[in-house]
Amino acid sequence: MMDNSQFDAMFSGAIGQEYETLKLICPLAAKMSRLVGGAVTEYANSCSSQPLSVLELGGGTGITTLSILLANDLLKIVSVDSEPTMQNQAQQSLKQWVEQGRLAFDGRDALSVLKNTATDSVDIMASAYTLHNFLDIYRAEVINEIYRVLKPGGQFINGDRYGLDDISAHTRLIQNEVAGYFKALIKIDKLDVLEHWIVHLFADESENHVMRESVALQQLEHAGFKGIRLNNRCAVNALVTAIK
Ligand SMILES: C[S@@+](CC[C@H](N)C(=O)[O-])C[C@H]1O[C@@H](n2cnc3c(N)ncnc32)[C@H](O)[C@@H]1O
Repeated sequence: MMDNSQFDAMFSGAIGQEYETLKLICPLAAKMSRLVGGAVTEYANSCSSQPLSVLELGGGTGITTLSILLANDLLKIVSVDSEPTMQNQAQQSLKQWVEQGRLAFDGRDALSVLKNTATDSVDIMASAYTLHNFLDIYRAEVINEIYRVLKPGGQFINGDRYGLDDISAHTRLIQNEVAGYFKALIKIDKLDVLEHWIVHLFADESENHVMRESVALQQLEHAGFKGIRLNNRCAVNALVTAIK
């Protein structure tokens, strides 16, 4: 098991500046990818059948993908991201795992990939900071499709922004988050990045995007999931796991 500094060194080596910047602006996001990896390890250790197949939604620049790859030596990942500029970076950084036959990329959008994936065929769906970006009606379809493609006993693992049910408490957390972006990004003179994060936050917090905790957990239950757990809440971020 790697300690924090070994883990950071591994990420900085493979993912480079992207990981350093994310840690600076949003340390909880970097932590959440690690928690997703931890949940994958836990599930893999509980399974006798290996290698496990993992479908990753929204791999981005590869931070979560690397965390999943390091979670278990045998698992194989298909990493999905519909944004080529993001996925190209992951393809560059994670070449060695592609060459080992453990990682493949799919550039289609999450729902298209899920709809073209066989029923009961995937051991783990793992993701970080992707589902909250989806429009609510698209997300509802994605959740039902994830349930369909997972094998019975398969695991849903998502580290993401799960909004608090207490709206006033949630707003206070968002206000702190905005203050944190200003503090971190003005210090390093990155006003363009600051603008980008604030603009993106408006989308995240909009009524038809926000992924409120109780609604999200009910959605998993309605899809058929059991053993639904929300752990490691840290401000608006949390790790959600569930079993088919
Ligand atoms: C915030 S990033 C998360 C990246 C990585 N998992 C992490 O935690 O650092 C979200 C990613 O989801 C991708 N994405 C958003 N909507 C998508 C969709 N409908 N289908 C596939 N990928 C999508 C974006 O392109 C982006 O790379």
